[in-house]
Amino acid sequence: MTDLFDFQPESSAFAVIGNPVAHSLSPLIHGLFARQFGILLSYDRIQVDTGGFEQAVSHFCAHGGAGLNITIPYKVEAWKMCGQGKHSLSTRADLARAVNTLSIEKSGKIHGDNTDGAGLVTDLQKNLGVSLHNKNLLVIGAGGAVRGVLGPLLECRPASISVVNRTFAKACDLVEAFSTTVDSSRTLLASSRIEDCVRQRFDLIINGTAASLAGTLPGISGACIDSGTIVYDMVYGSWPTVFMKWALSEGADQAHDGLGMLVEQAAESFYAWHRKAPDTEPVIQAIRKH
Ligand code: ATR
Repeated sequence: MTDLFDFQPESSAFAVIGNPVAHSLSPLIHGLFARQFGILLSYDRIQVDTGGFEQAVSHFCAHGGAGLNITIPYKVEAWKMCGQGKHSLSTRADLARAVNTLSIEKSGKIHGDNTDGAGLVTDLQKNLGVSLHNKNLLVIGAGGAVRGVLGPLLECRPASISVVNRTFAKACDLVEAFSTTVDSSRTLLASSRIEDCVRQRFDLIINGTAASLAGTLPGISGACIDSGTIVYDMVYGSWPTVFMKWALSEGADQAHDGLGMLVEQAAESFYAWHRKAPDTEPVIQAIRKH
């Protein structure tokens, strides 16, 4: 039996690296998770200038750091770093070509993972009760954000995923990159031009573009939306987003922002580091109020 005075609360160092990071909610989210388990946590924000990413990670590791979250613009650099030397990558991070979670061993070996897609799928299925199996999905965007979630979405075996993007060629490249991972007898994965996706019915439309951050719409036709359509904007910040407002005005059944995805991807990172699954619901509520 552990004597009360022998009890050592875990006190390891974690941080989020990016640029900018001043407004990152990760320290708050991980702090709230840690409190659920009585874990004493140090979680900082580290702003890194261009060219300084690997050095910053080495410095963090050398000072006993246990885990890092990686945010814009370093997710691809983190993926490249973990694909080299003694480091390693999860399959989903390799497919996403982006890493948002680093787990650091005492030996200095780093394991890179990507929890973004799992965060989206958990928010949709567990928190919002949106089933993906056999459903028809429209995914708007073909940047890193969409690349990070496409694998976990495909694993849910929807009937189809149409990927559309302002720059059509990027949607085609993305679909080609994932085509070998798809069981085509179960899921149809295809790209189409943004202006061509009219008069098609979608159960779920996911906006993975940066348009809402600029207060603009991604350019799909309102004809893609009917009273059974659920829309999900992967960004968060101002609630509701312009895309959510627009979709509801076009008759969508429900519209959600990406706050739940943010908290769920953090919960996956937290589990990777502490082997404890936090209760995310009160954290989503707290951040929404915050
Ligand atoms: P991220 O890594 O966050 O996905 P990104 O790689 O720059 O960032 O990709 C941003 C995505 O948002 C792209 O799909 C981009 O479309 P393009 O490939 O045509 O650039 C999309 N996007 C950004 N602003 C947009 C807007 N105003 N309307 C439509 N799509 C937009």
